[in-house]
Amino acid sequence: MPASILVGAQWGDEGKGKITDLIARDFDVVCRYSGGANAGHTVVVGSTKLALHQIPSGIMYKNCLAVIGNGCIVDPTVVLQEIETLEGEGVSCKNLRISGKAHLVMPYHKVLDGAQEVLRGDKHIGTTKRGVGPTYSDKMLRIGLRVQDLLDETVFKTKLADTLTYVNALLEHVFHMPTYTVQQICDEYLPYAKRLAPYIVESTLLLHEALDNKQSILFEGAQATMLDIDHGTYPFVTSSNCTAGGATTGSGVGPTQINRVIGVAKAYLTRVGSGPFPTELTDEDGEKLRQVGAEFGVTTGRARRCGWYDAPVVRYSAQINGLTDLAITKLDVLSCMPTINICVAYDCAGKRYTSVPEYEHLFECAKPVYETMPGWNCDISNVRTFNDLPQQAQDYIARIEELSGVRVSIVAVGPDREQTINRSW
Ligand code: GDP
Ligand code: IMO
Ligand code: MG
Repeated sequence: MPASILVGAQWGDEGKGKITDLIARDFDVVCRYSGGANAGHTVVVGSTKLALHQIPSGIMYKNCLAVIGNGCIVDPTVVLQEIETLEGEGVSCKNLRISGKAHLVMPYHKVLDGAQEVLRGDKHIGTTKRGVGPTYSDKMLRIGLRVQDLLDETVFKTKLADTLTYVNALLEHVFHMPTYTVQQICDEYLPYAKRLAPYIVESTLLLHEALDNKQSILFEGAQATMLDIDHGTYPFVTSSNCTAGGATTGSGVGPTQINRVIGVAKAYLTRVGSGPFPTELTDEDGEKLRQVGAEFGVTTGRARRCGWYDAPVVRYSAQINGLTDLAITKLDVLSCMPTINICVAYDCAGKRYTSVPEYEHLFECAKPVYETMPGWNCDISNVRTFNDLPQQAQDYIARIEELSGVRVSIVAVGPDREQTINRSW
């Protein structure tokens, strides 16, 4: 089993942290390949609950190497804080490695993220304000600073001076905001450089060494298919390729090394931030899902928008990511619903679609077509084998498999690592 990819199949917060933590025990390396501190992955082991933003969830296993790949962006303040929190909880970070090619989130990126949102007015994206869009923009503009630049003070200062010429012009003349000096940023970032230096590596070489030594790699996706810059609900997306394809460019490991791609999907659906969401529930059922499912953002604390399971979205994810497996999480939350709706198609501008339409304007007006299934009305959080689930819950999972064409290998019935039904992973 050389390499597998775990990817969000909906709009994020599907429980990727939990499923990564669950299956990471079978892998030697867990590698994040895209995104930055916009991610918030929750891992619950017994009485310990951790929210990971930058560090791969594999850090929980002491024999697992946790790699932040080249496709990620790195906010030194968040990484250092996370190391401190983890070590405070008794989780060693000696196995953390950070790619020298990953781009650095700078203080001005976070300022610009906020300022751009204000400028968008009622068309705001609802970003996490972690500087993600501006950092990836600078990468594409080829004026970004990379993690490796922290290793040489002169290089860091020279590159920063060049970048600030552009950034300060933007801050001063477009946003009418205070500018930055090289010294000001060096005063903050150079002390971080010292602390981060032991973790910085050539991660692509390291991953290939692992593969050469017959070790296995799990790529831990952040964000999700519908937030992907190319395949998501543009412009209400993040700024990276969070889909499975991103795992190869974001790590330097070729596609022929990947033999399994697991999509993580909630048994219902949530979304944070703006953008289309055909099955959104703005009534008391939506509120019930939010309360019972504790649907509040790990990174920003925002209330998540809640709705019914959208089968065309997951089928689309199955295609885009080449899913071989599905993990369905939070099935226990649906125990609160006497009947359960499942969206099987959309009506858009007078036409029926069984897949996500290509054009933004069509998806924006998509009206869900529902099938209704009976609920099971009992607590399932202690169930550990599929056949012990109530028949209605088994039928619900079977319908998800049928509609997506992908086998459900894992069913999660609670936040803890142990609250899981492993069918065939
Ligand atoms: P991620 O970003 O995809 O890792 O997901 P988040 O951590 O942002 O959000 C998922 C939330 O659901 C977290 O609070 C998890 O602890 C919790 N969770 C994960 N799986 C389950 C499950 O099967 N049942 C319940 N009740 N909670 C779960
Ligand atoms: P995990 O990995 C849910 C959303 C934001 C916003 C849009 C753009 O925990 O699933 P950004 O800050 O990336 O520029 O915001 O993307 N978003 C997420 N939503 N889970 C996430 O990560 C997200 N990361 C970004 O809410 O709508
Ligand atoms: Mg999350």
